[in-house]
Amino acid sequence: MTVQYRRGNDHSAGAHRGDDRFRRGVVSFVRRSPRMNTSQEHAMTRLGSRYLVEVPHDTTSTSVAPGSDLDLQQIFGRRAPLTVEIGSGSGDVLATVAAAHPERDFIGFEVYLPSVASSLTRLDRAGARNVRIIVADAAAGLEHLLGPGDLDELWTFFADPWHKKRHHKRRIVNPDLARLVASRLRPGGLWRLATDWQDYADWMRDVLGAEPALEPVGSGPDGYCPRWAERPVTRYERKGVAAGRTVRDLLYARAQGPDGPHG
Ligand SMILES: C[S@@+](CC[C@H](N)C(=O)[O-])C[C@H]1O[C@@H](n2cnc3c(N)ncnc32)[C@H](O)[C@@H]1O
Repeated sequence: MTVQYRRGNDHSAGAHRGDDRFRRGVVSFVRRSPRMNTSQEHAMTRLGSRYLVEVPHDTTSTSVAPGSDLDLQQIFGRRAPLTVEIGSGSGDVLATVAAAHPERDFIGFEVYLPSVASSLTRLDRAGARNVRIIVADAAAGLEHLLGPGDLDELWTFFADPWHKKRHHKRRIVNPDLARLVASRLRPGGLWRLATDWQDYADWMRDVLGAEPALEPVGSGPDGYCPRWAERPVTRYERKGVAAGRTVRDLLYARAQGPDGPHG
């Protein structure tokens, strides 16, 4: 896959981090043909240098080379509380929340180029200048590009559910990711999740509940919490609700105590 956009400044250089403990052989997405329509190609050309951050890849175009790093000060021109979205899709949540919070910075990891292109248009229309998109596997990005405690917030909204049991290992939310996220969140930092699939909601609750460095926030006896009011309704939520499914929100915080961070 060739990433067909021109990049602006090289935002990829930085110190080396050799931590490869979380490296996964299985990824949570299927590599699909990244065919973009004309307006998406136009968005990439027009807005790519503003919003896209290119990172060094490893063996595949969505991998991230171990030893990479992000210079957040250079990318955003400041250091502000950082939110990362795993699978930012067409940027609906990023555009809405980032525009409402100019005092914060946001990074979306997304592997599907047509969605990336659509997100650039959406971010531009919303006037959100405090967002960058990285075309890479979010798990690899969290592992290789961010350091312990770098993250103020992480979002995982409507992740691909991978229903079949033999595909559960592809679910982005898994014990390795939970451990990795716990290490990247600052103490007290938040992980917000939502899904319209009950079995994935239960899975997420069990996986995150088993991670000692994470603790549930504001959840009821069933482990779920009220819908995050700032989260706009995306087409995935609309589709789930139209099909009669219940949307579940989850909220966890990095423990302040001796259990975290893992490093
Ligand atoms: C069902 S969509 C949801 C998009 C968005 N979160 C929303 O609520 O509108 C899931 C997205 O996650 C992306 N994705 C899946 N695994 C990913 C990964 N490991 N890294 C980055 N993006 C990923 C897919 O390409 C897809 O766009």
